[in-house]
Amino acid sequence: MEPGLGRRYLHAMGVPVWRRREANMDTEGPEETPPPREGVATSDTQRGPEMDHPVQRLPAVEQEGIGKLPSSDPDPDSVSQKATPDTLPDGEIEPPPQAELEVASGDGIAGMDWERLGATVASCRACELCETRTQTVFGVGNRQADLMIIGEAPGADEDRQGEPFVGRAGQLLNLMLAAIGLQREQVFIANILKCRPPQNRDPRPEEAFRCSPYLMRQIALVRPRVLLLVGRISAQKLLETDRPIGKLRGRWFVFGPDETPLTVTYHPAYLLRSPDQKAKAWQDLIEVARRLRKPEAEDSGAEPVG
Ligand code: URA
Repeated sequence: MEPGLGRRYLHAMGVPVWRRREANMDTEGPEETPPPREGVATSDTQRGPEMDHPVQRLPAVEQEGIGKLPSSDPDPDSVSQKATPDTLPDGEIEPPPQAELEVASGDGIAGMDWERLGATVASCRACELCETRTQTVFGVGNRQADLMIIGEAPGADEDRQGEPFVGRAGQLLNLMLAAIGLQREQVFIANILKCRPPQNRDPRPEEAFRCSPYLMRQIALVRPRVLLLVGRISAQKLLETDRPIGKLRGRWFVFGPDETPLTVTYHPAYLLRSPDQKAKAWQDLIEVARRLRKPEAEDSGAEPVG
């Protein structure tokens, strides 16, 4: 990266001062109240660059589905529950796309290539969001990216343009990436949901569940070296936990059968409303950059990061 570029972007992000983090400063900030979509809950846990980051191993998430279902987990500290279709409530929703496609094609989403996956998402009617969307928002970027970013769901701009993170939050996300020397085109960006929830409400558990095979297939196809979850919804859905984002960021997890290193940061929409939190997001990004710089041979998910 060009010398000083990081600082200039940091300035553009509105981070006033760069302070070296001190080791072992686990603190929790205030929880954010949920915004009208482009937003995310917060509080925070900070760790210094010198300390060993314990890697939290999650149960391998199978490709068929993720997501916490309406019978929500009573233990906020629990990390993973495998979602299964028979725990869904009765309702008007059609069978999950995985089952439909297995019947239709003899194959499942987990075996699709990019082309079939894109076409399947574009015509998906697995939940009621298909009634209100303008178009699906599949995901964008480098399909062999080292870094994959996962947000929550399309907003109005994304629904209109068919691309994730193109509104104001997207512009800040671009700046955040630039701060660690990455262009938007170098990463792959997707969301938990492929369709915009009306009035930008939070994704419903069954919507995330129905949509999850698509995201799982995208992750499997990209095979990123690092997964970065932006925002509370993305973090809680993928990690299958109710823990606040402040307890999830600043740590490394391993995700899925490939044991992909995964970390969490604040949603750029939240940072737009709470610029005082940008320094923490910057710290998270620095950790992502450090992880990406590590030689691939040292990339085993079980390795402590740091
Ligand atoms: N917020 C998200 O989480 N995703 C988008 O694509 C846009 C805004």
